Amino acid sequence: MRPINILAIETSCDETSASICSNGKILSNIVSTQEIHQQYGGVVPELASRAHMQHIIPVVDAALQKAEITLKDLSAIAFTQSPGLIGALLVGAGVAKSMALALNIPLISVQHMHAHVLANLIHEPKPSFPFLCLTVSGGHTQIVKCSSPLELEVIGKSRDDAAGEAYDKTAKLIGLPYPGGPLIDQYAAKGDPFKYSFPEPQIDGLDFSFSGIKTAILYFLKEKQKEDPNFVEKNLNDICASIQHRINSILLSKLKKAATQTGINEICMAGGVSANKGLRHSLQELGNKMNWNVYVPPFEFCTDNAGMIAITGHYKFLSGELAGLDISPEAR
Ligand code: KG4
Ligand code: ZN
Repeated sequence: MRPINILAIETSCDETSASICSNGKILSNIVSTQEIHQQYGGVVPELASRAHMQHIIPVVDAALQKAEITLKDLSAIAFTQSPGLIGALLVGAGVAKSMALALNIPLISVQHMHAHVLANLIHEPKPSFPFLCLTVSGGHTQIVKCSSPLELEVIGKSRDDAAGEAYDKTAKLIGLPYPGGPLIDQYAAKGDPFKYSFPEPQIDGLDFSFSGIKTAILYFLKEKQKEDPNFVEKNLNDICASIQHRINSILLSKLKKAATQTGINEICMAGGVSANKGLRHSLQELGNKMNWNVYVPPFEFCTDNAGMIAITGHYKFLSGELAGLDISPEAR
């Protein structure tokens, strides 16, 4: 029987990515990260769209070549339809639609946060259903109950900033360049997580809030820098370790609550922040204590990538969930 070969395209933010999935196995996952945003301290939407325009065709070509798949072998084209920067999404959608039309094959629209969760189905060992996924990215923070590849329910979410935003914004306050999350992770490894204490927000249920911690750190720094203008430089490792400890403890205490409430002990993590070494370590530790089976995708499938779009496309193809050529991307 002819294999199901999906070409997937991801352009929701500042990564231009393409992937080939054959019968549910990822053969290639090419990611081109846009370095241009670093000098602006955050992603500039207009520049992101232009960079996607430049990179998308070479990235698609590279994905096909690496997988040793030709255009005529493709069964369908999957693309990120939402959420994301609208101009960036339009580039990927335009290429995906044109290819589907030219090759006369189906088009599959994929929701980016759904794909982050299904990144856990790319490699063995895979979680069994139902599982919970803590999805932590630059734009979203969610606890998702996943009952099958296409049945997902968001049972908790951030009411304000996402966890990645909390990392990046607090990093900016201590003078680190964008994106600050990976840098906080790096310095935190050498610091004392209990040196400084930041408040834990009191939010009912399974929702999160991260805006308070940002404000708390802002005032904390102002106070300390009044006494010593070099406070941050002198205590960078301990500050980073304390920030990281608080953000991660907020995430894990809600995850623990969700697991207890639902009785589910298959626990996954996904999204860019799941690359955080402190978070991975603490999740594993908590998992051992709670008797959970813990799953975290390899690093390349944690941050934005088309491999996760491809695996989601694969399951949508299997269930016949196809998109019309008149579909439009959505920012939210
Ligand atoms: O999922 P992702 O690649 O893109 C979005 O969909 O947003 O997540 C990007 C976020 C950024 O906020 C970045 O700072 C954060 O993930 N991040 C990290 C680490 N690596 C990436 N945060 C903390 N520690 C890390 N090691
Ligand atoms: Zn993402």
